[in-house]
Amino acid sequence: MTQTTVLTGITTTGTPHLGNYVGAIRPAIEASKQTNVSPFYFLADYHALIKCNDPEKVHQSSLEIAATWLALGLDTDNATFYRQSDVPEIMELSWMLTCVTAKGLMNRSHAYKAMVAENNAATNNDAADKGITMGLFSYPILMAADMLIFNANKVPVGKDQIQHIEMARDIASRFNHIYGEHFTLPEAIIDDKASILSGLDGRKMSKSYNNTIPLFSPEKKLKKLINKIKTNSLEPGEAKDTEGCTLFSTYKAFASEAEVAEISQQYAAGIAWGEMKKVLFEKINTEISPARERYEALLNDPEFIEQKLQEGAEKARAISKPFLVELRQAIGIKKFS
Ligand code: TRP
Repeated sequence: MTQTTVLTGITTTGTPHLGNYVGAIRPAIEASKQTNVSPFYFLADYHALIKCNDPEKVHQSSLEIAATWLALGLDTDNATFYRQSDVPEIMELSWMLTCVTAKGLMNRSHAYKAMVAENNAATNNDAADKGITMGLFSYPILMAADMLIFNANKVPVGKDQIQHIEMARDIASRFNHIYGEHFTLPEAIIDDKASILSGLDGRKMSKSYNNTIPLFSPEKKLKKLINKIKTNSLEPGEAKDTEGCTLFSTYKAFASEAEVAEISQQYAAGIAWGEMKKVLFEKINTEISPARERYEALLNDPEFIEQKLQEGAEKARAISKPFLVELRQAIGIKKFS
């Protein structure tokens, strides 16, 4: 059976939240269980520097994200689970790719353009590139290197990342055209079933909106945060709309179809918001609790996490090292004898 390499990374800024879990980590762990899948999951710690210059934060976030994958049961015998920075071939490839990437292609990057647009919109400031580092500008190239170094076939990502996969395909094609066929063109997979969770204020749950529920909040805190989720002011007994309701859409991400149908009826019958919040808390807590215990134990055992990551890096480098030798040969950088 041919193996499909499925690869994805999480940038190590911040603490994993329910949105990351439902949208990315839970489906990735599910996918890793398929026999024809060869999963590559990694901590994108060099990507973190693009957004964050706080060493303590980058370090702590790496630990928390690594502990999260392990606590949720990622099978590291099957998956290759590693830190980006432990695979230096990625950085070296990144430069090779930089030298075949058209600047015009990077000019079109959404992440970069959004910053320029923000700058242009700001009053008293006509510096379009203010606060934009070369890291942000070249970020799609580093991301291409992440994928191409392992010849990833499928890359599960959120919609906001589709452009980066397309850029990686462009860059890979360009390299292949100049130096011969070395890279597989990666394909984005967007899981329509994986829901995008709304945050406390009803907007998309995101650390940039500061509206997240940390995945492994202690039970009390989880309850408190769920109680904070914004609702309308309909009274108990008044019929409620499931459409556009954050409590409902969050419930849907955790419950079976039958349970969702049952709750829909209760909405029509006028369930009280306080009651719905209790139901939601129970549902999430039941799913998360066992992993939360493992998570806390893992955070107290960083040596174990480090060992897993080193094993992962070794597996990853068994592929990346010889591949890089091949690529260096291809571009004409090699020994004289
Ligand atoms: N840029 C991605 C994000 O912000 C994270 C990431 C880095 C990634 N490298 C990757 C995702 C390679 C998929 C493949 O979500």
